[in-house]
Amino acid sequence: MILSIESSCDDSSIAITRISDSKLLWHKKLSQENTHSLYGGVVPEIASRMHAKDLPLLLKEVLDSFDKTQIKAIGVTTQPGLSVTLIEGLMMAKTLSLELNIPIIGINHLKGHIFSLFINQEKYNFPMSVLLVSGGHTQIIEISDIKHMKIIAQTMDDSFGESFDKVAKMLNLSYPGGPIIQEYAEKYQGELYSLPIPLKNHSGIAFSFSGLKNAVRLQIEKDSSNPYKIAKSFQDAACKHLLQQLERYFKKHRAPKNFAIVGGASANIYLREKVCQLCQKYQKTLFLAPLEFCSDNAAMIGRYAVEKYKNQKFDNFFDLQCSPKSTQGEFIL
Ligand code: KG4
Ligand code: ZN
Repeated sequence: MILSIESSCDDSSIAITRISDSKLLWHKKLSQENTHSLYGGVVPEIASRMHAKDLPLLLKEVLDSFDKTQIKAIGVTTQPGLSVTLIEGLMMAKTLSLELNIPIIGINHLKGHIFSLFINQEKYNFPMSVLLVSGGHTQIIEISDIKHMKIIAQTMDDSFGESFDKVAKMLNLSYPGGPIIQEYAEKYQGELYSLPIPLKNHSGIAFSFSGLKNAVRLQIEKDSSNPYKIAKSFQDAACKHLLQQLERYFKKHRAPKNFAIVGGASANIYLREKVCQLCQKYQKTLFLAPLEFCSDNAAMIGRYAVEKYKNQKFDNFFDLQCSPKSTQGEFIL
């Protein structure tokens, strides 16, 4: 078994994954959303202290349920993320590695999101292209095989999820903004504000959300009497932008037949529906992670760690550090 740890932002999570068949045997996460909601966003210092409290609680629970001698390696998110929260998971992983005398496997969180597609399954659907939409990233990634991936397009400023968080904040709604904006949007039926669709006439494939966010701010300043209409108009424009760029990608590149969306914001039901329609139009087969594994979790980290374990990709105990930025390049293994 592999014990995996995730603490890159505001979720403390631990999982146990069986190496032989990638089956998820145990998974739990403690989200800090309610605490950070009081501040309108994640406060790194508070997040760090909450991981220091919550990770040991999860660890105790998991070690009470499993035979420690069956744990063959520790997988841990080391990048990208908040340095002060990553370090909490990394220190726990190093302590366990020493105590149990087992190897440690550092995991890139973004690639971890890709492995959320393969939790509880052994086979991969490569070649495949993936739209990653999270709180920090918006990328189209092409994966040719288990070893190689390539970033095709990314955001020039804010990420898709972040723009939901910012719009929710402008509307004095709770954090994280994604689920609440979606809920507000679902409650509105009627005509929408006309908001600019970013990069409509841009020649390449890229994403940008800061202009749209500013347009929403101006709209709120003008008339904020109907937050449901604002939420729906924004969600519609943000998704239209993603869809336009995806369509450009499907048309321009020889995109693989298999396509997936991953990351916290891939839980957005409206986006899932729209991407599903686009995939039908371009004859792509769409893969989606179960909703519970879209947002940050240790199960996806464990699933990736299993692959690295099978390929003996261990990290040096002393050299392994955490990094706020993604530095692991375009190799998966
Ligand atoms: O992947 P994730 O859990 O954390 C990061 O790695 O960043 O993604 C969190 C992001 C937040 O910005 C959150 O607002 C967004 O995902 N999100 C959503 C939805 N659920 C979560 N965005 C849009 N619609 C949703 N239903
Ligand atoms: Zn994430």
